[in-house]
Amino acid sequence: MNATVYLVGAGPGDPDLLTRKALRLLQCADVVLHDDLVSPEILQLVRSGALTQNVGKRCGQKRITQQQIHARMIDAARQGKIVIRLQGGDPLLYGRAGEEMDALRNAGIQFEIVPGITAAFAAAASAKIPLTDRRLASKVIFHTAHHCKEDVPADFGSAISSDSTLAIYMPGHDYARLQNQLLASGVDPETPCLLISRAMRPGESFHATVVGKLSLAPRVSAPSILLVGLLAKPPHRADAAIAFSRIEANQSYSALENMTMQCASVLGDGPAPSPTIRNSGRGC
Ligand SMILES: C[S@@+](CC[C@H](N)C(=O)[O-])C[C@H]1O[C@@H](n2cnc3c(N)ncnc32)[C@H](O)[C@@H]1O
Repeated sequence: MNATVYLVGAGPGDPDLLTRKALRLLQCADVVLHDDLVSPEILQLVRSGALTQNVGKRCGQKRITQQQIHARMIDAARQGKIVIRLQGGDPLLYGRAGEEMDALRNAGIQFEIVPGITAAFAAAASAKIPLTDRRLASKVIFHTAHHCKEDVPADFGSAISSDSTLAIYMPGHDYARLQNQLLASGVDPETPCLLISRAMRPGESFHATVVGKLSLAPRVSAPSILLVGLLAKPPHRADAAIAFSRIEANQSYSALENMTMQCASVLGDGPAPSPTIRNSGRGC
């Protein structure tokens, strides 16, 4: 007897951002095979009694091979179990969904995809910046900073133009290398960029700078994502002061250097923190 395997997106980590369908499936699953990035809060929603296993494969830390993951999904489905392959964000972006779907097809197992909110959308939403804006950016490009397998550096090539917003997944911590790659691809050094760590998770933080000074960015906690482009700067609006607990602003994009903003708890129910704004110029 075959059951369906569900490739489910868990979103950025906040359980409120799961789809209703993802939640329903988690509550009736028999087997849940999940990645490292799936938050503990989401794993708590899995039906008690389900077999839950971390099959994450962060760079250099392989717990289980991809072939073994395929075999586990297929075996459990053949036993008639409801199998969920749970991935952070959206399962179709920077995961192994392509290989997993091939394996399921080859084994004659039916499967379904349940989308999730990808990190770029979560990060942009948290920072309150649009990824496109008809005045400034008409393209969004998803990119990865490197290929995990052989640590091959990214080639941003000619894909980037000034009307693009670039969402760089897995930026790593070698910001100097990333800066050089972006500059070598023709990106203007004054282009804003926003490093968002743990978007929509506890400990979320933001660091705004420009491409030419990316190498000076502080090492932030994983997972993090880098947004690059004219829109990738802190919002001008007054709510920026409320949304971030510390803002150091100055006169130009260059003044965004070393501007680290810790996200305040304004999304919760508590009182908004009083922002500390050190503005040595006319603001950004
Ligand atoms: C293997 S990729 C998986 C991406 C995922 N499928 C998605 O759609 O978001 C993992 C990378 O996604 C990014 N990421 C995932 N969750 C994130 C979060 N909450 N905040 C910032 N970046 C995140 C990081 O760049 C991380 O290294």
